[in-house]
Amino acid sequence: MRQPLVAGNWKMNGSRAFAGELVTALREGVSALDRVEAVLCPSFVLLPLVAELVGGSTLQVGSQTLSEHDEGAYTGEVSGAMLLDFGCRYAIVGHSERREYYAETDRQIAAKFAAAQRHGLTPILCVGETLQQREREETESVIREQLEVVLAHVGVAAFQKAVVAYEPVWAIGTGKTATPEQAQAVHAFIRHVVAERDSEVAEQLRILYGGSMKAANAAGLLAKADIDGGLIGGASLKAEEFLSICRQAS
Ligand code: G3P
Repeated sequence: MRQPLVAGNWKMNGSRAFAGELVTALREGVSALDRVEAVLCPSFVLLPLVAELVGGSTLQVGSQTLSEHDEGAYTGEVSGAMLLDFGCRYAIVGHSERREYYAETDRQIAAKFAAAQRHGLTPILCVGETLQQREREETESVIREQLEVVLAHVGVAAFQKAVVAYEPVWAIGTGKTATPEQAQAVHAFIRHVVAERDSEVAEQLRILYGGSMKAANAAGLLAKADIDGGLIGGASLKAEEFLSICRQAS
């Protein structure tokens, strides 16, 4: 049985005061839920504060990216070891905004996935197609490629301690959500690609949906067999919305 996971990707939003209010509003409600695992992914600068604020609750902390390198002369970068040291347990890798705005490649993302695991963090690997790719019926080939570069780099066994998030680029921050059927089809395909290498690893792999997921549309998505939770952007900045999604996942 896969434990549901709901992660909030705050992106480049928030402040110390905002983090204090949001975590205070979430702590009790999330801790009362026994099934779901909830993770907050603030920006690097807020991460130590958020890690402190969640102390004593069941909330976990994750980063939005990390360096593929372990240490050294990489100005502006943050290593997996630093993240672990500050209380981080998860690291998002390969978010489409990193791929698009910072030109991260599949190979670099594979290296980041490996770096996260080297330092004891659980990577949340994001995959997803653009609208143009979907219209050209390339969704499966794009997602297969994104997964296979990482699988080839780290090996399928590494997916025992990893999470995959399906985030159709056309649904991110646009208000357009994939229908539960569209999302389920891609989630099943992701599981199938992993199962081609190891069916047991595929069976226990948690696959999250991300893209305009909110309290009002979460139930339909979470009811699908291969959707094990959500990676939430905008709605994770509102306590009631995020809590409601966690409750629906639990
Ligand atoms: O990583 C979460 C994400 O990209 C979805 O963002 O705002 O559409 O929920 P949003």
